[in-house]
Amino acid sequence: MKVELGNTFCLYPMPTVLVGATVNGKANYITIAHLGVLGMSSLAISMAKAHYTNAGIREHRCFSVNIPSAELVAKTDYCGLVSGREVDKGILFETFYGSLQRAPMITECPINMECRLNEIIDFPRHDIFIGEVAATYCDEAVMTDGVVDFAKVRPILFVMNDKSYWKLGERLAKAWDVGKALKKG
Ligand SMILES: Cc1cc2nc3c(=O)[nH]c(=O)nc-3n(C[C@H](O)[C@H](O)[C@H](O)COP(=O)(O)O)c2cc1C
Repeated sequence: MKVELGNTFCLYPMPTVLVGATVNGKANYITIAHLGVLGMSSLAISMAKAHYTNAGIREHRCFSVNIPSAELVAKTDYCGLVSGREVDKGILFETFYGSLQRAPMITECPINMECRLNEIIDFPRHDIFIGEVAATYCDEAVMTDGVVDFAKVRPILFVMNDKSYWKLGERLAKAWDVGKALKKG
């Protein structure tokens, strides 16, 4: 039997990321779980207009997306609890910069993507920032045979429905492969 849940959003788990931006001349990091994949090199992040970070993304037209590992769960949660308006969140991590120069990235996060801002979609309560990945940086330690190995990355998966962070499970099957068994002929 199906239970109707109204319009409850169920597109979870989502990777929890730390978005970096330069705000008032300083690195600031904000926890974001509502992000979308647009094609192979663009992404959208949905950020409530009230956040401190938005102005920095608008000003410098760039931001970073950092993927924290499970051990950074407390700091990741903290960046989603406090605002850069009151607390200097830049001092929580070691920051580095890439070619865009104004998109602060977190050394402790195994994967970092610096993004150019392409477009802002003006939702009633959110700025939807659409960015294009300019460069991606990855710790060698989380790669296997030259490929990013998410078992080693240990991303923090967010579920809004139970307001919890989850861990990644095991590999289920190979994509574009397991279904071949059902092909006729
Ligand atoms: C797990 C988690 C996920 C979050 N995801 C989002 C999100 O997708 N969009 C958003 O606008 N705020 C999100 N937030 C809230 C912001 O991270 C939070 O309000 C933050 O303190 C704003 O920081 P700032 O004022 O320094 O920009 C999330 C918070 C947590 C804890």
